[in-house]
Amino acid sequence: MVRFLVLALLSLAGVTQTSASPTQASEPLNPTEEQPPLGTGSLSFPWSHLRLPGYIVPLHYHLLLHPNLTMLSYSGTVRIELQVQNNTNWVVLHSKGLRITTATMLDQNLAHLSDKVLPVLHNPTHEQTAIFSPRVLSGGQKYFLFLEFGAELGEGFYGFYRSTYRTSSGETRNLASTHFEPTSARMAFPCFDEPSFKANYSISIRRSRAHTALSNMPIVMVLDDGLMEDRFAVSVRMSSYLVAFIVCDFKSVSATTASGVKVSVYAAPEKWQHTHYALKAAVKLLEFYEKYFNIKYPLPKQDLVAIPDFQAGAMENWGLITFRETSLLFDPATSSGSDRVWVTMVIAHELAHQWFGNLVTMQWWNDIWLNEGFARYMEYISVNATYPKLRVEDYLVDTCFAAIGRDSLNSSHPISSAAESPTQIEEMFDTVSYDKGACVLHMLRHYLTDQVFQSGIVRYLRRYSYSNAHNQDLWDSLANTCSKEEEFSSGEHCYSSRQHLDLTSMMNTWTLQTGVPLVTVTRQGSHLLLKQERFLRTAHPSDPTWFLWHIPLTYRTDTSTSIHRHLMTTLTDSMEVGEEVGWVKVNVDMAGYYLVHYDGSGWDDLIQLLKDNHTALTFMDRTHLIHNAFQLTTAGRLSLDKALDLIGYLRSESHTVPLLEGLGYLEAFYRIVERRDIPDVTQNLRTYILWYFRDVIDRQTWSDKGSVSERRLRSELLSLACHLGDLPCLKQAQRSFTHWLDSNSTLNLPADVAETVYSVGAQEDTGWASLLQTYTHSLSETHKRKILSALASSRDTNKLTRCLGLEGEVIRTQDLDSLIAMVARNPRGRHLAWSYVQKYWSTLVDKFQLGSFSIRNIIIGTTAQFSSTEELTEVRVFFESIHEQASQLRVTEVAMDNIQKNILWLQRNLGTLRKRERDREGDRERDRQRRG
Ligand SMILES: *[C@@H]1O[C@H](CO)[C@@H](O)[C@H](O)[C@H]1NC(C)=O
Ligand SMILES: *[C@@H]1O[C@H](CO)[C@@H](O)[C@H](O)[C@H]1NC(C)=O
Ligand SMILES: *[C@@H]1O[C@H](CO)[C@@H](O)[C@H](O)[C@H]1NC(C)=O
Ligand SMILES: *[C@@H]1O[C@H](CO)[C@@H](O)[C@H](O)[C@H]1NC(C)=O
Ligand SMILES: *[C@@H]1O[C@H](CO)[C@@H](O)[C@H](O)[C@H]1NC(C)=O
Ligand SMILES: *[C@@H]1O[C@H](CO)[C@@H](O)[C@H](O)[C@H]1NC(C)=O
Ligand SMILES: [Zn+2]
Repeated sequence: MVRFLVLALLSLAGVTQTSASPTQASEPLNPTEEQPPLGTGSLSFPWSHLRLPGYIVPLHYHLLLHPNLTMLSYSGTVRIELQVQNNTNWVVLHSKGLRITTATMLDQNLAHLSDKVLPVLHNPTHEQTAIFSPRVLSGGQKYFLFLEFGAELGEGFYGFYRSTYRTSSGETRNLASTHFEPTSARMAFPCFDEPSFKANYSISIRRSRAHTALSNMPIVMVLDDGLMEDRFAVSVRMSSYLVAFIVCDFKSVSATTASGVKVSVYAAPEKWQHTHYALKAAVKLLEFYEKYFNIKYPLPKQDLVAIPDFQAGAMENWGLITFRETSLLFDPATSSGSDRVWVTMVIAHELAHQWFGNLVTMQWWNDIWLNEGFARYMEYISVNATYPKLRVEDYLVDTCFAAIGRDSLNSSHPISSAAESPTQIEEMFDTVSYDKGACVLHMLRHYLTDQVFQSGIVRYLRRYSYSNAHNQDLWDSLANTCSKEEEFSSGEHCYSSRQHLDLTSMMNTWTLQTGVPLVTVTRQGSHLLLKQERFLRTAHPSDPTWFLWHIPLTYRTDTSTSIHRHLMTTLTDSMEVGEEVGWVKVNVDMAGYYLVHYDGSGWDDLIQLLKDNHTALTFMDRTHLIHNAFQLTTAGRLSLDKALDLIGYLRSESHTVPLLEGLGYLEAFYRIVERRDIPDVTQNLRTYILWYFRDVIDRQTWSDKGSVSERRLRSELLSLACHLGDLPCLKQAQRSFTHWLDSNSTLNLPADVAETVYSVGAQEDTGWASLLQTYTHSLSETHKRKILSALASSRDTNKLTRCLGLEGEVIRTQDLDSLIAMVARNPRGRHLAWSYVQKYWSTLVDKFQLGSFSIRNIIIGTTAQFSSTEELTEVRVFFESIHEQASQLRVTEVAMDNIQKNILWLQRNLGTLRKRERDREGDRERDRQRRG
């Protein structure tokens, strides 16, 4: 799955008709009170655990679905072939919000075990259903469980749900689609909804002639009986969360890969012309993965479908990947350079999952990083190889910086963490699993070399194909330690665990332990003394736990071009670097997941080096130094003066990545003081940024020309300049906006600067109204996202309130969380957004789910801006008022940590900022005189 950054979800009320909230864990209800029919008599629910019993294993599902897009409901039947391992009278499986109308049990010859309809009991708190068989099911035998069921096509984003789209003639059409990961297959049909219960699926769908039905596999037979019935080929063995089906009237484009896989991209009929880029990219990337993994993609087809209402960014259902429209559709006229990168990366991510996740699945959700960390990292490997011009390596640093941001708070957690309830499981889909997972893999790949890494993961994928794996299995495969089977079969060469590289102890320090290490280095003669500790930006925890990592250190010096390596496995250590060495830069190109602090004159040497000749270091190293210095400042380990001195060289920086990194900190400081309403510092910082970066701002053109990295710089720099009120920027934006208005909103502005132009235009009443008008009628979601951001940048709070009120009609509910975050980012909107969240909290939880990306985006988006103790108290009081839900969420702690970090930052640094600004006024004055 791809998380949607600050965007997400859909329509009106909650999901289907389940009354019980899945999030309140209590004792199993007495099922007879809840569901009286079906003669349950005095039976009570036989199972009290959240996870299903292991002694009944599903082998094959025959699933028939009959949705009605007019009635917005569906009925279905499922016949599940079961392997029973122990004698029992009960089958316990998952179902949520389904009406189960008939249950029968058949033996291997399809003879009924009982001539009565069987009792069905429900335990809604655990989302489980139990079927009682009066005749004992014998261990070692196979049976068939047959169930008839029905439900509404829900209005949420989970299970089998309804989505709608509007045609240009104003007609609204329905479609029905699924989203199951992690625990919502049970909302669509009764099933054993845990990742290790892999089974084959034979799916059939009834539909009207006007619609198309899609599922994981291709259609093998169509029955026409007034209604149509599509029968899909039997699937490979897979987990329930990967099952998918869609009934819609979409159009598609197709192509075939070199190995004969048919790839198709589907979208609403009028958006069909925006599917071509995705088709090309998908074919190219699928071919890349088949080669890289050296395992053929096992299905005959791969469909990619743009679903109008979709909460995540995309979902890797095997053979039928679903996307948000903005993650798949590419309109050359309105999509920017970064939209292209996003679409390519999301496709690369979901296709990587066809191997990592679908073919080999983590045993349980605690190790979701085995799916998500890998898919996230494979995005970089595959896009770097197939689309080198997109320069995706430039974005890898952001992924690692995001991971460090989260991991340097007390509230972080280990990559592998316990997760049992659906809410806990959903919350595992976070920065730690995705981004830290990817960065740790990046470090490991550098340590092992590309070739060893690649052959190790191929070994892992082969060993565990169509089954499940643990962390340990990955380490063993990478170190080429023998698996149990191989000890008996004499195939490929492998090592016994004693004989070889002990990757397990090294990697356990990264996956089972929270946090990111800080390595402090001190020069002492020809030696470099090393010390490691956990890096924290907030106060240290009251119970300091022992932290020790096995860090594969790398460094470069001025005396040679080679990269030096050293594995640090103790708290303190030292390395010989040589007497004659001038400077040392540790963590070469930031391939390692750790920060570095240079003690003594270390930082001064590097500051001097950047001033004298910054090209002596790679752009990655420069970016890394800037990042580390400012992080250390936040933690109170380095003075802000030093960090600001370090970026004193930025005027000569010509690379986009370090430039944006340095500028990003200045912008963040500006936003903090702007929001806190500290006028003197705000004003001075603004003048300073515009003065210091004048030349590079003036060099930008208002166009879509240039390389991806030039386009990214332009987009971000002009957006900041206009936000800071730079007159030349505002004037140009105003001119472009007027042209756009004059064209009756038909002109296509350069996509990279469109959002900036709209934001400037949105400050006038007529501009705002025209934008809203265009938003309402536009068919391009990428275009609409840019306009929405402009609408939410208005300085008029009435307009912001109006925006929030448009959700559900003009603004899709899937976009509500990004809208709230956009309003919160606006200095005039931050209290408005926070009040909105408090007022509508329970509605929001109904619309999204408690642990969802959307709810987390909303909490982080509205609180990350706060930096005063009053705000901290306000947030704490609110979380206490929703204690029952808040206590199940990790994200509430993250929010509190963020605010504390901001408070601390201001306490430590406001004085320095004020003083520097006074000193700089002198610089600027001298500069003016010189130029003047
Ligand atoms: C199931 O049977 C196996 C032996 O066939 C036994 O070892 C195991 O304990 C049984 N499990 C349960 C839950 O009764
Ligand atoms: C949906 O229900 C309507 C009204 O009952 C019926 O006319 C139509 O044929 C049904 N469509 C399908 C696909 O079952
Ligand atoms: C079930 O899947 C496995 C592997 O994924 C495949 O080999 C087998 O043929 C499938 N079973 C059926 C009945 O098609
Ligand atoms: C990207 O490609 C270049 C050139 O092929 C290679 O040197 C580099 O290691 C690749 N980066 C990643 C992350 O795979
Ligand atoms: C700056 O460093 C680079 C790389 O080490 C070197 O090629 C170049 O000559 C240096 N320039 C100056 C002015 O010292
Ligand atoms: C502007 O567009 C609207 C809606 O598309 C149309 O009704 C109107 O006639 C257009 N006006 C001009 C001046 O082209
Ligand atoms: Zn994913």
